[in-house]
Amino acid sequence: MKILIKNGRMIDPANQIDAIQDILVENGIITSVAAAINTEAEDIIDASGLLITPGLVDIHTHLRDPGQEYKEDIISGTRAAAAGGITSLACMPNTSPVNDSLAITKYIIAKAKEEGSANVFPIACISKGMKGEVLAEMGELKEGGCVGFSDDGVPVSNGELMRRAFEYADTFAMPIISHAEDLSLVGTGCMNEGSVATELGLKGIPWVAEDAATAREIMLAEFTGGRLHVCHVSTKGSVDLVRQGKARGVRVSCEATPHHFTLTDEAVRGYNTNAKMNPPLRSQEDVDAIHAGLADGTIDAIATDHAPHHYDEKNVEFAAAMNGIIGLESLLPLSLKLVEDGVVNMNQVISLLTDRPARIIGIDRGTLSVGAVADITLIDPQLEWEFALEGLHSKSKNTPFSGWKMKGAAVRTLLAGKTVFERSL
Ligand code: DOR
Ligand code: ZN
Ligand code: ZN
Repeated sequence: MKILIKNGRMIDPANQIDAIQDILVENGIITSVAAAINTEAEDIIDASGLLITPGLVDIHTHLRDPGQEYKEDIISGTRAAAAGGITSLACMPNTSPVNDSLAITKYIIAKAKEEGSANVFPIACISKGMKGEVLAEMGELKEGGCVGFSDDGVPVSNGELMRRAFEYADTFAMPIISHAEDLSLVGTGCMNEGSVATELGLKGIPWVAEDAATAREIMLAEFTGGRLHVCHVSTKGSVDLVRQGKARGVRVSCEATPHHFTLTDEAVRGYNTNAKMNPPLRSQEDVDAIHAGLADGTIDAIATDHAPHHYDEKNVEFAAAMNGIIGLESLLPLSLKLVEDGVVNMNQVISLLTDRPARIIGIDRGTLSVGAVADITLIDPQLEWEFALEGLHSKSKNTPFSGWKMKGAAVRTLLAGKTVFERSL
C-alpha cells in the first residue's frame, strides 16, 4: 500500500525541516521525503494549505480503563485522541485497579493494539497500590512495556520513598513523573488561593503547595542523579525552579497543559466545576510565567492531563466535584493559539507536541524521518470551528471550552499509514 502526500507544509522539528515537501508512505513506513515525488500510489492526498506534522504525542492522559469505563475507555479515549491529531499517548496508572502490575500493563497494551486508534504507552505506579508505602516492581513493569513511573493524582508524600524511587527507576533508565503538590498545604482547598477564592467563599490552594513539592522533587533528582519529569506546572515558582534546575544540570523536564496556559482562576466564577482540577487554574502572573517557560524552552512539552469524569461527578457543589477536565480534542487549537498570540512560533509549538514529549518517555515517535513509522497528522491551521460537546468523541464532556470559537484542527490522522480519523468538512 502506497500513500503519497503532496504539497503540504511539512514541519518536522526533530530534523529541522519546515518546507513544502511531498511524503511517500509504503506499508506504514515513511520511505521518501522530497520537494517533488512523482510516483504511482493507491492514495494521493493533496495537502495544499495544510501542515504535515508528526502525529502528536500526549504524555499525560487518563484513559480510565480498566475499571471506570463509564468515564472513558481505551477505545473511546484513543478515538478522541485521533480526532485531536494525537497518534501516541501515555496513560496514567490511577485506574481501578491501579497499574502497578504486569497484568494491567499487558491488558492495556493488548487492548490498545487490538481496538485502539492510537499508540498507547502505559505509565506504571511508583508505589504499590499507589499507597506511597512500598515501591512497585519497576524492572518487571519496564519489561512489560511501561515508559515511566508516576503516582499521578496522589502525590508521594514520603521523601525517603521518593529518593529510592529515583535511584531504582534510574537503574532502568526510566523517568519519575511527578504530580508535585504538598498535600498538607493543599489541605481542603479546592481552587487557587487568591481574591477570586475569597470572593466565592471557597477554600484556596496556595502556590507554595506546588512550589514546595516541585523544589523537593528537583532536589531529590539532583541528589540521586535520577531523571525527573514534572507534570502540569501551574505556578510561576515551579517554572522558575525547573529553569534553575536545568541551569545546574539537574536531569529535569516538565510539561504544561492547555488549560493552565489558557485560563486563570477567573474561569471558576459561577462555581464552574468544569474549571476545577489539580493543580488548580492560577493567576494571570502564573499564566504569563508558563508562556515565558514555553518560549524559552524551560517547558519541554504540552500535555493534556485529559481527565474524563461523568456529568454526575461534576454536577455537584464546587467543593465536592471531581478534579479534572477532558483535553484530547482541544489540545491542538489551544496550542496553535499560542502561535496566534505570539507566545511561540509554529516550529516551537509543533516540537512541544511531538519530538520533545516523545523523547521524555523514550519512544521512537514524533518525527517524519525516512524509515520512521508513518504516524502523521494533517492540520488545517486556518480552519475556524466551534468546540461543541455534541461533536466530541470522548465519553465524558467535562470541559470549560464548550462553545469556544477555535482556529486550527486536525483534518486527517494517520497511524502507521492507516487513516484513523478524517474530519468531515
Ligand atoms: O485534575 C486532576 N485529575 N488531577 C489529577 O492529578 C488527577 C486527575 C484525575 O485522575 O482525574
Ligand atoms: Zn496530576
Ligand atoms: Zn493527571
